[in-house]
Amino acid sequence: MLVRFPMLRHEVVVVGAGLAGQRAALAAVQAGRDVAIVTKLHPLRSHSGAAQGGINAAIGPNDSIDAHIYDTVKGSDYLGDQDAIEYFCREAGPTVIEMEHFGTIFSRAEDGTLAQRPFGGAGFPRTVYAADRTGLALLQGLWERLGSEQFTLYEEWELARIIVRDGRVQGIVAADRRKGGLQEVAAKAVVIATGGAGRIYGRTTNAHSCTGDGMAAAYRAGAFLKDMEFVQFHPTALLEGGILVTEGARGEGGILMNAKGERFMSKYAPKVLELASRDVVARAIMTEILEGRGFTGPYGPYVHLELMHLGREKIESRLQEICDLCRSFAGMDPVTAPIPISPAQHYMMGGVGTNIPGETNIPGLYSAGEAACVSIHGANRLGGNSLMETLVFGKSAGAAAAEYAAKAPTPSLTQGDLDAVTGTFRDWFLRKDGEDPSALRTELQQTMDRYVNIFRNEADLAEGLRRVRALKERFSRVRVVDQSTVFNLNLSDAVETEHLIDLAEVILVGAYARTESRGAHYRTDYPKRDDAKWMKHTLAQATPTGPVLSYSPVAFTRWEPKERVY
Ligand code: FUM
Repeated sequence: MLVRFPMLRHEVVVVGAGLAGQRAALAAVQAGRDVAIVTKLHPLRSHSGAAQGGINAAIGPNDSIDAHIYDTVKGSDYLGDQDAIEYFCREAGPTVIEMEHFGTIFSRAEDGTLAQRPFGGAGFPRTVYAADRTGLALLQGLWERLGSEQFTLYEEWELARIIVRDGRVQGIVAADRRKGGLQEVAAKAVVIATGGAGRIYGRTTNAHSCTGDGMAAAYRAGAFLKDMEFVQFHPTALLEGGILVTEGARGEGGILMNAKGERFMSKYAPKVLELASRDVVARAIMTEILEGRGFTGPYGPYVHLELMHLGREKIESRLQEICDLCRSFAGMDPVTAPIPISPAQHYMMGGVGTNIPGETNIPGLYSAGEAACVSIHGANRLGGNSLMETLVFGKSAGAAAAEYAAKAPTPSLTQGDLDAVTGTFRDWFLRKDGEDPSALRTELQQTMDRYVNIFRNEADLAEGLRRVRALKERFSRVRVVDQSTVFNLNLSDAVETEHLIDLAEVILVGAYARTESRGAHYRTDYPKRDDAKWMKHTLAQATPTGPVLSYSPVAFTRWEPKERVY
């Protein structure tokens, strides 16, 4: 059985050590607060490091902040909050320069300035990059910068609960996997920066660690989850295993071909072809496959991403990671052969509902990065905007949390807070018979892949919801068979699977209710965008019988909704 360690105290606890978490921690430390980062992975192993193609900032000679704002608003299918988008795009330039000063080594143009490549849905080459390992380069730079500050790092800790009492945050409870115990941390402010929840799906570009821990814990603690029905499918993932093949490959000139040898994007986005926004390209690929113009093979249907015409030098210098991944995981060489790809879940546009400073509806609870929904992405995120989002809103959330913590009363955790978690875990351990969490997770992923994918309809969503609710009921009898305390991955599996099931239910309820098509949410039974009825954000709040939905208005500044064509 897990031991219970004496309570710890910090002023600001940041949960998650990817780019958003590190940037929040840096801002809070710089504001003079006592800060701890709680993370289940070593910071340099965070999923931010898997981001390949780049980070958007309108710093090029012909580009402008207004163009970046417009592209992001249009990309969001007009569901993004325009005040937040304006703030984001204005902060992007200084942020990329700051990251360079922190030590990130970006790729260079011939004249020595920062190189920028075209990305989908962007009117200009706006994506600053470090070959195709941009996330890793940013993580390295930020980690080096943060390392020169005083803060506490708790690694291999799994978030179990966020404690809210007297109308505000009091701290968290986490499981220390390495020492095998439960740990309370009292905190005046908590920043959720735990990234996305891609592992709700089976076919995803996300790491196994992307289990929506912070989103789910915040939801159970009473925070609103916003716009969760908008799930991004990246157009190009390796057929084998769903590993990301960066949009940068198309930015560098890669083309998509079907089994008839047609460059099919001319039908779907005649002006910009492969550089349409992700929802458009992913739907185009799936349409080709569903209408019988894809290739077939042992790993499922697919189309080709061709790079060969770019030449060895360009492919091997700009797309080093893609070369390695194709050679290691697909047994082919993109210099000489087309890459077999199909779409895979990639990003959650939804998350913990926040405003620009990262405040949620719970005093003392903040969120940033993919875990949060500010919302700048609305119904569809542009590639390259998420790395920037982690830094811009990580910084604002960390600063706001620090300001709040400077004035907040001393938090009070009670024995009962820990008892509740200990009691749950004890039940899981002591059960003599029950459900295997990993089997439930696999069934969940199969359900989401089948019923809540790129094309949706009422019957599928109803069936998906019925299945997810059946899994939720079965989870109430979950059993942790492994009785060991240290690195008990059976226990981690149970904790994470509970998060995933709760979030899947929210996605389904929101998707079922939204009877229109907008961005990544495409309903074949409601194929048009319906601004009169649905120009609004979905808010989901937890109740004992499941999520209850309400809606909030979209913020407009200067851009009127138009039909979205590329
Ligand atoms: O395609 C990519 O390199 C992914 C970038 C992103 O999701 O922003």
